[in-house]
Amino acid sequence: MSSQKPPSSAGNNLDPWYANYAERTAGLAASEVRALFAVASRPEVVSLAGGMPAVSALPQELVIESMNRVMREQGSVALQYGSGQGVPALREQILDVMAMEGIKASADDVVVTTGSQHALELVTKLFIDPGDVVLAEGPSYVTAMVIFRSFQAETHHVAMDAHGMIPESLRENIARLKALGKKIKFLYTIPSFQNPAGVTLSWERRLEVLQIAKENGILVLEDNPYGLLHFDAPPPPALRSVEQEGVIYLGTFSKTLAPGFRVGWALAPHAIREKLILANEAAVLSPSSFSQLIISEYLDTIDWRAQVDRFRGVYRERKEAMIGALTEYLPNLEWTDPNGGFYVWLTLPAYLDSKQMLPRAVKELVAYTPGTAFYADGGGRNNIRLSFCYPTPEAIRVGIRRLQNVINGELDLLETFSATGPLDTVRDRNFSAPPPNLD
Ligand SMILES: Cc1ncc(COP(=O)(O)O)c(C=O)c1O
Repeated sequence: MSSQKPPSSAGNNLDPWYANYAERTAGLAASEVRALFAVASRPEVVSLAGGMPAVSALPQELVIESMNRVMREQGSVALQYGSGQGVPALREQILDVMAMEGIKASADDVVVTTGSQHALELVTKLFIDPGDVVLAEGPSYVTAMVIFRSFQAETHHVAMDAHGMIPESLRENIARLKALGKKIKFLYTIPSFQNPAGVTLSWERRLEVLQIAKENGILVLEDNPYGLLHFDAPPPPALRSVEQEGVIYLGTFSKTLAPGFRVGWALAPHAIREKLILANEAAVLSPSSFSQLIISEYLDTIDWRAQVDRFRGVYRERKEAMIGALTEYLPNLEWTDPNGGFYVWLTLPAYLDSKQMLPRAVKELVAYTPGTAFYADGGGRNNIRLSFCYPTPEAIRVGIRRLQNVINGELDLLETFSATGPLDTVRDRNFSAPPPNLD
């Protein structure tokens, strides 16, 4: 057994291997709300917590047809190991998908990965040494931050408002961290319909953020799973459409087709692409040939753009149900009104704690994700991420009504024990975000 001091949260005394885990596993602690989410998956609970796409909106016959054709015509290829970079035909088709966001590229620079989650892990593995810094919007995607932490990076947050990341905050963070002698390895951003805040980085800010990154020699990691799922006008073109050498772009079929395939990709500057392929091979040998060929067949033979349109319709209806219910049941609170994607970011009065409130919510049969999950520094205490992607519009209304009961119950409780009188006169707002203006 190792004499190394065990990482604080990597195991417990019932685990005979407790002392042997690598230091980096300290970042792999299960979240405190995980157990509650097991309860929240019961059918009677309306879950506004997960980010599961509405796969029922994808006609399964389309997938079955593609799968049958692949197995009949290319069965032995589909069942075999493939290239570590991904199926060439699919990489060409990915160029068409990215062209919808203004990106021009070569299939040579595309690396297919096991979901964009795996691309995030590979990029982190390539760039992060313990103690390095990743800059990310505050709030940011929880499972990206889990990866950053597991490679012992420090995540520092760049503030956001209704138009996405605030360039001034980016400048300040860079100056502060450089003065401390920190190595900033990359800026992680979800510019369109951000997870969890739902906001979109404006065009002017996209240019400014790229300029700041360039001036400071900071690589940009652009994660864009939701860009095609807009409800009205599309978001501004991708950062990668403007800057090729300083941006790694991540895409996925999880939201525009189905996450079960586990197919995403990275588009990287040439030199980085080479290392990504080697890292991909080291991790999985090759991404699934079976999944890639089915997706390639699907893109080739089915009107996939029309299917993306259908998804947009489904999510638009659900978003409207959520905003309608919030307006009706929680009119005194603030929330973002996204023009695409899956998420609304709700701000509670400053004296409420959304994590503490969660057990009560689950008891009232509604679940959400507390805001603290999306910050590396304890922020988001009075925020909630609400997902509208999975439940039906009716369930969303029921869920928000239940949430109203929970919040009112908390307020009643606080009022009962507060010496300062009615609390709704002191509603505090720390994330003021009117609907993003994307015109
Ligand atoms: C911002 C963001 N990035 C990456 C992912 C991972 O997606 P996948 O691995 O399914 O492509 C998600 C999934 O919800 C996400 O929201």
